[in-house]
Amino acid sequence: MSETTTDTLEQHIANNISGETWEVVHYLAMALKADNEGKTEVARTLRYIAMEEAAHGARFKYLAGEVGDLREEIEKMLAGEEGAFDGKHEGMKQAEAAGNKEVASFFDTAAHDEGRHAAMLRDLLGRYF
Ligand SMILES: [Fe+2]
Ligand SMILES: [Fe+2]
Repeated sequence: MSETTTDTLEQHIANNISGETWEVVHYLAMALKADNEGKTEVARTLRYIAMEEAAHGARFKYLAGEVGDLREEIEKMLAGEEGAFDGKHEGMKQAEAAGNKEVASFFDTAAHDEGRHAAMLRDLLGRYF
């Protein structure tokens, strides 16, 4: 999504949120490649940039009023984490069926992460809301 001079302010903000979001993931993927090539300082710098891009996207999202009531937001994210847990297990099965062990293994690892994220959010809901 590129920005043009005819975009409204709302479009500029939306474009920035999606652009920064894409950059975070891409910079972090570049950092993994740099790690694998033994270029540690390159990886570290790319991760530093990724965190700043994440902060940009987050601030635009916040300023756009896209974060509502915290309890409701956490409940919404919890449902998403639970869905991600199931979806990643489905991806794991498909990767296994396709004989791609590396991808299957990562789907498994990431599914466990999603399960932990869900557990952490449940804990917050129980203790703070
Ligand atoms: Fe940025
Ligand atoms: Fe997650």
